[in-house]
Parts: sequence; structure tokens; C-alpha cells
Amino acid sequence: MLKIGLLGVGAIGRTIAKAIDEKQINARLVGLSDQEPALARDLSATLASRPPVVALEEMIDMSDVAVEAASQAALAEFVPKALARGRDMLIMSVGGLLGHEDWFRQAEEKGCKIYVPSGAIAGLDGIKSASVGKIEAAELTSRKPVAALRGSKYVVDRGIQLESLTEETVIFEGPAEQAARAFPATSNVAASLRLAVEPTSPVCVRIVAVPDGSENVHEIRVRGEFGRLWVRVENVPSKSNPRTSQLAAFAAIATLKNLTQALRVGT
Ligand SMILES: NC(=O)c1ccc[n+]([C@@H]2O[C@H](COP(=O)([O-])OP(=O)(O)OC[C@H]3O[C@@H](n4cnc5c(N)ncnc54)[C@H](O)[C@@H]3O)[C@@H](O)[C@H]2O)c1
Repeated sequence: MLKIGLLGVGAIGRTIAKAIDEKQINARLVGLSDQEPALARDLSATLASRPPVVALEEMIDMSDVAVEAASQAALAEFVPKALARGRDMLIMSVGGLLGHEDWFRQAEEKGCKIYVPSGAIAGLDGIKSASVGKIEAAELTSRKPVAALRGSKYVVDRGIQLESLTEETVIFEGPAEQAARAFPATSNVAASLRLAVEPTSPVCVRIVAVPDGSENVHEIRVRGEFGRLWVRVENVPSKSNPRTSQLAAFAAIATLKNLTQALRVGT
């Protein structure tokens, strides 16, 4: 049975852990790790399998697939340690992968896989197919409730007064790489789109603050040799973390299910 270890027991980590515990995934949760071990112990106590709470290295050693659901900052430690052990990994803090193409090369050399779930967006299957041909333009517009943007470094640094907005306002427009750096907690989808298309095709991102908004809405438009594609996802936020869409955890679960099932549907 597939052995899964988990770094990060927040909104996404807890949902993944429960799915494994409820046998939605044919796998065993072998270890939990978090910078706040007390949170991991609390989670473990709610699970039938009572996975041990261990240090990061130990968790990776125990796993066939090490799952990261922590933060972009955590990747700097997590990925090199998983690579050193030739471990497959699933990454949720996708923005932290941008600028680290050396990690992809090392994974090739080590023969290990880096899984990036579709997260809070849809359409990456079609976009990957489209990328086999020429892509002329790829755009992502993310509409976010003010609550999901509050406290973001970009917002604070620029003194953007979110509370005084009275209508939808574009607060960021630029390349996906910049969006992922500017909004590390909320623009992982921009990074996933960036990774899905060829590096030579630009990916433009717009972030719109929505006063009184309650959902994270992502719209993707791609134009290319294949034709045109438009995808819109209206995401319900996680109850425990308004920055995180419920779909993101479901995407991680679907990716892990894919690893254990004979039938794979979609690109
Ligand atoms: N790919 C996507 O579409 C997508 C969507 C939503 C969220 N995310 C990302 O997934 C990650 C997890 O999201 P979440 O909503 O569960 O977050 P969360 O804040 O609810 O939980 C994160 C957990 O990880 C732990 N953690 C954070 N940094 C750590 C570190 N350096 N070492 C060890 N533990 C650490 C925290 O203590 C916390 O328990 C975030 O980076 C988030 O931005 C990705």
C-alpha cells in the first residue's frame, strides 16, 4: 500500500489526512510533520490510524510520496531533503517551485517525481495538451475577496487600503512569476499555470480585489494553435483558511488517488 507522509496540517493537510483515514485513498498515512508539532498531535488524535508526529527528515524517510501542504518558505528545506532521498513528492505551495528549475533536473537524475495538482483551478489538462502546439497568449484573472488578500506582503508594502475599496479593483497585473512572489499564499494557481505551458510562452496574471466578495474566482483564457479556451472556477473558500479554496485540497486528494488507481482519466 502507498505510504504517504504529510508536511503541514492546516486547511489542506487536514483534509488530505482525513481522506486517507476514511480510506478514500488506498494508502497509509505514515507520518505527520509541522512547524507546530502540537497541531500535528491534535490532528493525529482525531485519526483512526494515529500517525506518528515526526521531524521532516523522518517523515520523508518513511514515505513513498511526501506531501507538502505547508508554505512556500517550507519548500526550501522540503524539496532538497526529498530530492536527496530520491523521494516522490506532491507540492501544494507551487509558487515556491518557480525559479528552481534545477530541482526538476535533479528529480530527473534521481528518478523521482514532483506532482503538482491542479489546485484551485481547472483546465490544466487541456492547457497541457494545447501546449504541445504553439500558445499565443495565456491569461489568469483571479478575483479575491478582501478577506483573502488582507495582510499580503504586496498589499502591505504598497499601502493598498483594501477596506476603502467600493468596487472591484485590479491591484496587480504582471507575469505569473511576479504574481507568485508578490502573493505567496494566494497565487499558487498562477505558478501552476506557468508550469503547465512552455517556458517561452508568457503567462499574464491579474489580481482583482472584490469588496464584499465571498468566493475565489479564477478565469483562465488561452489562445493558440489549438484554438481558444476559457475556464472559470468559482471557489468556495476553506472554512479554516479563507485564502485557500476547498477545491485545492480536493485536487491533492484526486492526484493521490490517481497514483493508486489503474484507470486515469484526463491528460
Ligand atoms: N496549489 C494551489 O492551488 C493552492 C491552493 C491553496 C493553497 N495552496 C498553498 O498550500 C499551502 C497550504 O495551504 P493551507 O491552506 O493548508 O495553509 P494553512 O496555513 O492552513 O496550514 C499550513 C500548515 O503548515 C505549517 N507550516 C507552514 N510553514 C511551515 C514550515 N516552514 N515548516 C513546517 N510547517 C509549516 C503551518 O504550521 C500550518 O499548520 C500554502 O502554501 C498555500 O498557499 C495552494
